Amino acid sequence: MPRVSPGLRWVFVCATAIVVLYGVIAAMAQPSPAAPPADVKHLYDASCADCHGTDGRGRGPAADALNPSPRDFTRGPYKFRSTASGSIPTDEDLYRAVAYGLPGTSMPAWKGLLSETQMRALVAYVKQFSPRFTADQPAPIKPTPAVVASPASIEKGRLAYGTLACGACHGDGGTGVGAVAAVLKDDWGYDVEAQNLTEPWTFRGGRTAADIYMRLKTGINGTPMPSFADTAKDDDLWNVANYVASLARKPVWEMTADELKAHYTRQTERYAASPVDRGRSLVRTMACGHCHTPVDREGRALPGLNFAGGVKMRLVVWGDRVSANLTSDNETGLGRYGDDDIKRALTRGIKHDGSRMLPFPMGWPAYAHLTPQDQDAIVAYLRTLPPVKNQIPLPAGPGVFTYLTSKFQMLIGGKDFPIVIFAGNAGSAGNPGSNPAAAQR
Ligand code: HEC
Ligand code: HEC
Ligand code: HEC
Repeated sequence: MPRVSPGLRWVFVCATAIVVLYGVIAAMAQPSPAAPPADVKHLYDASCADCHGTDGRGRGPAADALNPSPRDFTRGPYKFRSTASGSIPTDEDLYRAVAYGLPGTSMPAWKGLLSETQMRALVAYVKQFSPRFTADQPAPIKPTPAVVASPASIEKGRLAYGTLACGACHGDGGTGVGAVAAVLKDDWGYDVEAQNLTEPWTFRGGRTAADIYMRLKTGINGTPMPSFADTAKDDDLWNVANYVASLARKPVWEMTADELKAHYTRQTERYAASPVDRGRSLVRTMACGHCHTPVDREGRALPGLNFAGGVKMRLVVWGDRVSANLTSDNETGLGRYGDDDIKRALTRGIKHDGSRMLPFPMGWPAYAHLTPQDQDAIVAYLRTLPPVKNQIPLPAGPGVFTYLTSKFQMLIGGKDFPIVIFAGNAGSAGNPGSNPAAAQR
């Protein structure tokens, strides 16, 4: 029987843990104080290439399981800089990412594992992947003197947060509630989330007012987070930074029992008030998009096909299955079906046409425990997905010969067949933007 992972989430967690552990062991095996520069390729290949790839293109063996994806060093955009929007970063910026890592992502902090010399050498090594570092100069931003945090500055910042329309992406009070642009894409074609600004431990560029001010000046290249350098006065940006810093709530791991209870009560109330938010969060953690969004050979989501299905999966003995179009399109997507049809597919493995789904690749038996509220929330969220026309082909049998030979190998030979997942879209919309030249920037 094909092996079915008990939860894709665990696959991600384990893959990341293994890679980090491997990196740590590899790093510790290095001769410590100062590795000669000749060793830097070796050091990079041992510590960084699992995620960033030996060629620096961000497609190392672990990359598929990671969100956000490891940086492609050959393309140019860097997110966390002290330089103007669109500019290359300074060496210090790169050093900071390497030494302190990027919180909330799989990018580890290397300080303490690698020597200063090794980290500096890696910065130089990473730069040589992109010709921009020889052609361009970084354009550093000089911060103006900080506006000291005070109730008056925070109040001004709150008003500027409104005028600058931060809430369109980050929601009211930074909580994500009321955001109109909830589903955002980065330049690499992946979904990105505008951070919940009340959870500053997820800020990758740092959580102090000075760090936040810098993000507002520089923007985050490659993502929808714009630079406000030209649209707002510096004092206002400092006020906004003070306001955002003031929104920080306590992380759950620092809360007392009473605070925890109050926190989860608020969260439950919020989810009850907004099933779509709850549904979005469930669909993310349950990784529905992983199987229902087609990707190209490099693992990048095909543009315009978010949740549009069309991912072909080969289950050797049982033939091919293609994931369903989950968008609200009323000819080819879930728009055709009632809520109950969707819930029945999800929790009992019975498709809209009454046919039965195998318990893999989609592990619906594990979804059977979803509470009725959570089922409703998932449906409510799926209903908000913009319609995409992508007709999905019917399941195809394996053919008698493959069926018999593979069944024989499986039952008599004890052979285990993995599930093969194909790149590309098997649905009627084809493979938009999958030409590598079109994806080049
Ligand atoms: C476990 C996977 C993993 C390993 C190992 C790893 N990285 Fe990363 N790295 C990432 C991810 C993921 C990102 C992108 C995070 C984001 O987009 O916020 C990243 C981003 C970066 C960035 C870009 C920061 C920016 O501002 O855009 C640099 C530089 C970097 N890594 C260097 C390294 C170096 C050098 C090593 C080896 C010492 C390394 N990484 C090892 C996962 C990894
Ligand atoms: C068009 C949508 C959009 C708007 C408008 C926007 N942001 Fe963002 N913001 C994002 C996204 C997306 C990210 C996450 C980017 C990433 O790291 O992948 C982000 C990240 C951030 C972060 C985290 C930075 C870090 O270090 O990780 C802060 C703080 C922030 N935004 C504050 C603001 C403030 C304040 C405003 C208004 C002045 C604003 N944003 C306007 C989309 C937006
Ligand atoms: C491991 C891959 C995988 C994951 C994860 C996954 N699905 Fe599926 N899903 C499939 C495949 C493949 C099919 C088509 C099966 C078939 O045709 O027999 C499918 C079918 C469906 C259908 C049936 C539509 C119809 O035709 O009636 C629905 C609804 C659905 N998925 C929703 C979801 C939701 C919601 C999630 C997340 C909670 C999810 N899926 C997670 C692979 C997956």
